[in-house]
Amino acid sequence: MKPPTQKISIIVGAQWGDEGKGKITDFFAGEVDYVVRFQGGNNAGHTVIVNDEVFKLHLIPSGVLYPKPISVIGNGVVIDPKVLLTEISGLQKRGVDPNLLVSDRAHVIMPYHIDMDVAITEHQGQLAAGSTKRGIAPVYADKMYRHGIRMIDLLEPDIFREKLEKSYSFNKNLAEKALGGKISLSLESIYTEYLAYGRRLKRYIADISKILYDAKMAGKSILFEGAQGISLDVDHGIYPHTTSSNTAAGSFAAGCGVSFTKIDKIIGAAKAYVTRVGISPFPSEIEGNYAKTLRDKGNEYGTTTGRPRRVGWLDLVQLRQAVRVHGLTDIALIKLDVLNDFKELPICVAYEVNGKKITEMPASLSDYRNAKPIYKTLPGWSSFTVGENSNFSSLPKNIIKYINFIEHEVSCPITIVSVGPQRHQTVLK
Ligand code: GDP
Ligand code: IMO
Ligand code: MG
Repeated sequence: MKPPTQKISIIVGAQWGDEGKGKITDFFAGEVDYVVRFQGGNNAGHTVIVNDEVFKLHLIPSGVLYPKPISVIGNGVVIDPKVLLTEISGLQKRGVDPNLLVSDRAHVIMPYHIDMDVAITEHQGQLAAGSTKRGIAPVYADKMYRHGIRMIDLLEPDIFREKLEKSYSFNKNLAEKALGGKISLSLESIYTEYLAYGRRLKRYIADISKILYDAKMAGKSILFEGAQGISLDVDHGIYPHTTSSNTAAGSFAAGCGVSFTKIDKIIGAAKAYVTRVGISPFPSEIEGNYAKTLRDKGNEYGTTTGRPRRVGWLDLVQLRQAVRVHGLTDIALIKLDVLNDFKELPICVAYEVNGKKITEMPASLSDYRNAKPIYKTLPGWSSFTVGENSNFSSLPKNIIKYINFIEHEVSCPITIVSVGPQRHQTVLK
């Protein structure tokens, strides 16, 4: 089915990431003018499949495979220039020359951030989130300390040197003296290598805020693509087992430097079950045969790190929070096909914490550690196929029951259903 056109829309993760944001972004991106990433870095891995060709994107927005949209990496994103250049050249080799703009204000992931990520994860022990080791927490920390390096600095050798000396010595001392870690590269080699990256990326670096403001004034359509998911949001997620940026939809404005009073849609991508890569309490987690079946059928292995994803039943406590914090207008329910042929499907509707029933995500880590899922079990459905023109009425009736139950519990309409990784395996209400 052809996606409807919206002027301003946001697609975000409603769980722990890997919900299928890339697929849904790609589905809607064909006719928009700009697709914009506004937070996160190459901890993200977004998969888009076009005619059986698989594209795994980490930094470049998932609209890049269409000729029309301009891909924008906003200031809220943290950029590993080496990864970005590899992603650009990987796409070019496959015949896609990205029409890309990168914010001059975006912070740069330096090699010592990756070393620091290893050291800090070791130090945090069981309070760590199980990071992707891409340097995400250290680069955002340096931004907040205010000795971070921005894309623009790679174009100004003297300023870069001045800042690098501060940032490098800070990280080296912290990693090696306080944390017992190791910073592998010398300042001199980093200086030379990163100035060269700056020269190669110069053509993409721009004042994104101004460009998007002009686009707004000209009435262009813009699609914002989030990374990670609500439970990884540094404020609203299961802290400290989160990432280091605000994944909530509301952070789009700060993350690209332009705001809007009218947003047509905020779409939350949610799997029809739940997965989690990394460490944290996971109340509806399942193990054993069901987990193995779900992991294998859903091919639940991380796009970025290849780690097996932990799996669980759909968690409506989590989804309720996603609806509220993101301000979702719509839910895209993804990977329903993976649930085909299960006889029964438990859905977690609340947690029991020390004998008390709770229906909203708590702030307390202790509550999470003690949370036991309260399930409502719904009947399953058999395998089915959808065609180009399928709509909701062509879905099995027990899927409709599943959808209606979720909508009622979380007070948000499910208007998009995904039943396979391809563009055409998408059904709209
Ligand atoms: P993202 O990080 O939210 O973009 O999600 P990922 O790309 O990391 O993970 C989602 C995975 O599910 C990818 O391998 C997609 O190709 C795949 N996928 C997306 N939608 C569907 C679907 O409806 N059914 C199935 N079986 N796979 C899907
Ligand atoms: P997309 O955009 C799933 C998880 C890591 C870890 C925690 C912190 O593909 O949905 P970090 O490297 O950010 O410091 O790790 O967050 N994580 C993700 N999990 N999908 C992602 O991105 C993720 N990005 C980070 O596994 O638990
Ligand atoms: Mg992913």
